[in-house]
Amino acid sequence: MATVGNGKLAKIPAASLAVVAVVTAVISLSVAFFSASICRRKSKILSLRVKELEASLDASLEMAASERRGRIRAQQALRVALAQRSSDGSRMSRSESAVSYPMAPIAFVQSCFATRNGTPRQPLVVPLSRACLMFDSSRVPAAALDGLAEYSHCWVLYVFHLNTDLEKLWKQTSRSKFKAKVRVPRLKGGKMGVLATRSPHRPCPIGLSVAKIEAQEGHAILLSGVDLVDGTPVLDVKPYLPYSDSIQGATLPKWLKEEENSLAISSVCFSAEFNSTLSICWSEHEKKSLYASMDEFQSLIKEVLSWDIRSLSQQSRPHHAIIEGESHECSLLPAAGVIYHLILEGIDISYRIDDDGSNILVERATIVPSASTVSNKYHYNYSMWREKIVKINDLAVQ
Ligand SMILES: *[C@@H]1O[C@H](CO)[C@@H](O)[C@H](O)[C@H]1NC(C)=O
Ligand SMILES: *[C@@H]1O[C@H](CO)[C@@H](O)[C@H](O)[C@H]1NC(C)=O
Repeated sequence: MATVGNGKLAKIPAASLAVVAVVTAVISLSVAFFSASICRRKSKILSLRVKELEASLDASLEMAASERRGRIRAQQALRVALAQRSSDGSRMSRSESAVSYPMAPIAFVQSCFATRNGTPRQPLVVPLSRACLMFDSSRVPAAALDGLAEYSHCWVLYVFHLNTDLEKLWKQTSRSKFKAKVRVPRLKGGKMGVLATRSPHRPCPIGLSVAKIEAQEGHAILLSGVDLVDGTPVLDVKPYLPYSDSIQGATLPKWLKEEENSLAISSVCFSAEFNSTLSICWSEHEKKSLYASMDEFQSLIKEVLSWDIRSLSQQSRPHHAIIEGESHECSLLPAAGVIYHLILEGIDISYRIDDDGSNILVERATIVPSASTVSNKYHYNYSMWREKIVKINDLAVQ
C-alpha cells in the first residue's frame, strides 16, 4: 500500500516539478527577452541622444568659429579706421567726430550792409542800422512770431556764412584751418584765444547778436542796431530778457576796458559833391530803401563811419600821398589819402581818412549796378513799415 501510495506520491511531485521547471524557464526566458528588449530600446534612445548632443556640439562649434571670424573682421575694420584717423592728425574722440545736428536756417537777413567790410563789429553801436528778418514760411508759420514784437529787443543766432573757411570747417572736421589765436582790433594786432573774442573765425561759426525789434508784419521782423551782413542765415531768434540777460556788475578783461573808445572817429563831414551825388542816387533808390528820407540815410552813413570800420590790413597799408586842393566844407579836413568805399543798401559811398585816422571826409555816392547788389531783393521798403513802426512807438509812449 505504501509503494502504491509512494508511487503515486512520487509521480505527483515529479509532474509538478516539471511544470514548475517549465514555468520557471518560460518566465526566465521571457524576463531575459523582456530585459533584452528594454536594453535594446534604452541603447537606441541613448544613441539618439548622443547623436543629438553631437549635432548640437557641432552647431555650437560652428557658431563659435563664425563668431570668432566676425570678431576678427570687426577688429580689423576698427584698426583700419583708427589708423586712418591718426593719419588725419585729428585728436577727436569717436563720439565727438560722429555727432552732427540737422540745423537749417529759419530766416534770412536783408540788411543795409552788403559786405563784411563796413558792418559794425558789435550790435547796437549803429542804432540806425536796419535789417528785415525774412522767415521761411515753409518752416516757420507766421503764428510762431506772435508776441515777439511786444519785446523791445531780441537775440539773433546766425551762421557766419561769409567765412571763406566754412566748407572745410564743417565738411572735414579736422582742425587744420581753425586758428586758436586771432588778432584783436583793440590790441592793434595783438592776439587772443578765439573763444575769448567775438571773432567770426571760430571752431563752430555761429554768431550771436542782440537787436532792437521795431515791428513785425507777417513773416518778417524789422530790426535796428544790427551788425548783420545781408544774406545771413538765421538759426534762431529769442526774446531778450533784461532781468536775466543783463548782469549787474559783470566785468571785462583789462585789454577791453582800457581803450574803450580807441576805434571811434572824431568827425565825419560830407562834401558838396557828396550831397549832390547822393540826392541824384536817392531819387532812384528811395522806393527800395528802409530809410524814410535822404537825411535819415545820411545819418546812417555818419553813424556807420563814426566807428573805424577799416580792417586791420587796410589800416597798416601806407597811405599814398595824393595831394588834393584845400577843402572848405569842414574844419578838420583830411586833404589826402587812400579812398575807401562803404556800400549801404546798394549805394557806394567813397570817403577819405586823415593821417591821424580820426577825421573822415565823405566824397561821393554812386549806385552800384543792380545785378550785383542786394537792394533788388528787398521785399519791404520804409513806407511799407511806416505804419507799423509808428504804431509801436505810439504804444511805447502810452
Ligand atoms: C551836406 O549835407 C549835410 C546834411 O544835410 C549838411 O550838414 C552839410 O552841411 C552838407 N554839406 C555841404 C558841403 O553842403
Ligand atoms: C515801397 O514799395 C511799394 C511796393 O513795391 C511801392 O508801391 C512803393 O512806392 C514803395 N515806396 C516808396 C516810398 O517808394
